[in-house]
Amino acid sequence: MKSKRFQARRYQLKKEGAVVVRQGHPWIFRDKLSTAVEAFEDGQWLQLVDALNETVGWGIYQATGGVGIRVLRKGVNPPSREWFKKLVQKAIAQRAPLRSQTEGFRILNGESDRLPGIVLDLYNGYAVLQTYSRGVDSLGRYLANVAYELLGLRGLLWKTPSKRKDAEQPGVRLLRGNLPGVVRFQEGALKLAADLRSGQKSGTFLDLRGLRRWLAEQNLRGARVLNLFSYTGAIGLACCEGGAREVLNVDAAQPSLDFGARYHAAPAQRWVCADIFHWIPQLTSQDYFDWIIVDPPSMASQMDQVPQALAVYRRIYRQLMGHLKPGGVMIACCCTSRISPDRFEQVVRQALGGAKVWQRLPMEVDHKPGFPEANYLKILIFRPPSQRSQPPSLPALHKKADHQPVKGRRRARPKTT
Ligand SMILES: C[S@@+](CC[C@H](N)C(=O)[O-])C[C@H]1O[C@@H](n2cnc3c(N)ncnc32)[C@H](O)[C@@H]1O
Repeated sequence: MKSKRFQARRYQLKKEGAVVVRQGHPWIFRDKLSTAVEAFEDGQWLQLVDALNETVGWGIYQATGGVGIRVLRKGVNPPSREWFKKLVQKAIAQRAPLRSQTEGFRILNGESDRLPGIVLDLYNGYAVLQTYSRGVDSLGRYLANVAYELLGLRGLLWKTPSKRKDAEQPGVRLLRGNLPGVVRFQEGALKLAADLRSGQKSGTFLDLRGLRRWLAEQNLRGARVLNLFSYTGAIGLACCEGGAREVLNVDAAQPSLDFGARYHAAPAQRWVCADIFHWIPQLTSQDYFDWIIVDPPSMASQMDQVPQALAVYRRIYRQLMGHLKPGGVMIACCCTSRISPDRFEQVVRQALGGAKVWQRLPMEVDHKPGFPEANYLKILIFRPPSQRSQPPSLPALHKKADHQPVKGRRRARPKTT
């Protein structure tokens, strides 16, 4: 951003595109654009006009992907530095109450804060910027610097989101201050840690804070918990806080489990490295859990992947039902907006034998969705009807008791530590 007003070029929208902008949606999908848009370079800022040449808004052209234009601002007034700065101030003010509860939260939440493609996460004074298209790279850096000054931060990292393919300089870059290898941060009662450079997302899954808080407040005394797709076991640690006797964290990424064993250790935490889709069928009829938490990766970034993802959900929840103790709790998470909340609930309910949802956890305030597509995260908590009358008297799965992660074998009997 070199000038107060950006060098926008004029682009005439089709009728449906103008309607999208007037209705306040932040994306115009490519199929709603005329071919004239292809004359622009990726990242070009646009003055959006309707069929009568009236300005309806301002946006950024994106040459690849389903979204063709990200809308920056609705109406005749162009977005300026001052205007963006106010949005950053507003986003920070909205999250002020969170600061007494956690040192890790999202400061800027992209389109939901009217800052298209720009995400900034905070971990105990260190921030991670992620920009989702070339057109917002410099704006993102500018706004992250604004937040850096306003919040008096210690370090600012710019990290390319894993799903972004068009980055000029992919990877991670320290923009301001310094950054320790691992950042520790307090979240409620939990002492968490994240590797901001090489961890998934901005370092950890901040959007799961509501689930961690909820679990830490539950009475899990004596419970055996299966935490599937555990990443670094932060959810497992929340279960320990709730009193769990044993938490089996299962993930395919050995480095994530190693990190968890080092930074999220607790006497009840166990670590299993395995491909979960091969691991579940190897559980025996003696393997029972009081709580099962399932938080798989998205599996459906495009609509045509949805049927396959739903089929996977159906299969694993059916399989897992055979390993949940009577009266046990099943927590089902889904992190793709391609699958609607209703569809997800319906599929999991059916697979769980018609179980009703006991609790539905909303998205946290710092991730609050500002438009339908941003409403990606579903967290449903079930207490399914019993499938068996009695659990086995002895838990068969876990016998050893050290806390080192071990490598799983794809088709071998599940190993735990
Ligand atoms: C959405 S993240 C889970 C976040 C985690 N629940 C937490 O509390 O931070 C998905 C995780 O699934 C793991 N994963 C993906 N495919 C897997 C598979 N087939 N088997 C086991 N883990 C897998 C990834 O390594 C990643 O850690």
